[in-house]
Amino acid sequence: MNAKQAAAFKAVSYIKDGMIVGLGTGSTAYWAIQYLGERVQQGLKVTAVATSDETERLAREVNIDVQPLDKVDILDIDIDGADEVDKNLNLIKGGGGALLREKIVAVASKMFIVIADESKLVENLGKFPLPVEVIPFGYTHTAKKLAALGCKPVLRVKEGKTSITDNSNYILDCHFNVIADPAALQQQINAIAGVVESGLFVKVASKVIVGSADGAVKEIAK
Ligand code: 5RP
Repeated sequence: MNAKQAAAFKAVSYIKDGMIVGLGTGSTAYWAIQYLGERVQQGLKVTAVATSDETERLAREVNIDVQPLDKVDILDIDIDGADEVDKNLNLIKGGGGALLREKIVAVASKMFIVIADESKLVENLGKFPLPVEVIPFGYTHTAKKLAALGCKPVLRVKEGKTSITDNSNYILDCHFNVIADPAALQQQINAIAGVVESGLFVKVASKVIVGSADGAVKEIAK
């Protein structure tokens, strides 16, 4: 079991019969979906909400019951990866472009468990470019407002084409290098017209499960 698999396996052990579970997006969340699928195969009953079209597809592939977020009440547990995690459990997410649905699902959950390998733990957020989902209309203007906050915004391109999110928006990857005050920056970004959501997750995570290459895990809770 590698580091990502170990963290995902531990997180899935928190899921109990009858729970409503949020399923994250990315290569670490992938393993959580696989392990949950195995438990469903063994008889566990859960209802899941997916944070992306890709996650929905993967979950259905392993026979997990996936429902729209609006069909369920509060979620018991949400399990998702992260691009960076600081010592206060603040996060940068959205490397996989699913940050908007990921945040909506995380804040709709009683417990948000982040799964990561050790490479994601950082002293300060910001080395990983902060993904910001923006409305396509006037995005160059939105980018200028973001740049005024001290970053270099770069329009995300995939295979030579502008990357489009599951919500039909664009992503600006904002190179800050260091984010000194994540809470303040989050407020400033969300106040810009054209911004839908940023990948800053401030005080959202309940705990982080960190996997190591030898398969060991450690849990960091608030
Ligand atoms: C997707 C995300 C992912 O959770 C994040 O990019 C981490 O991905 P991975 O587990 O593949 O390293 O936020 O939008």
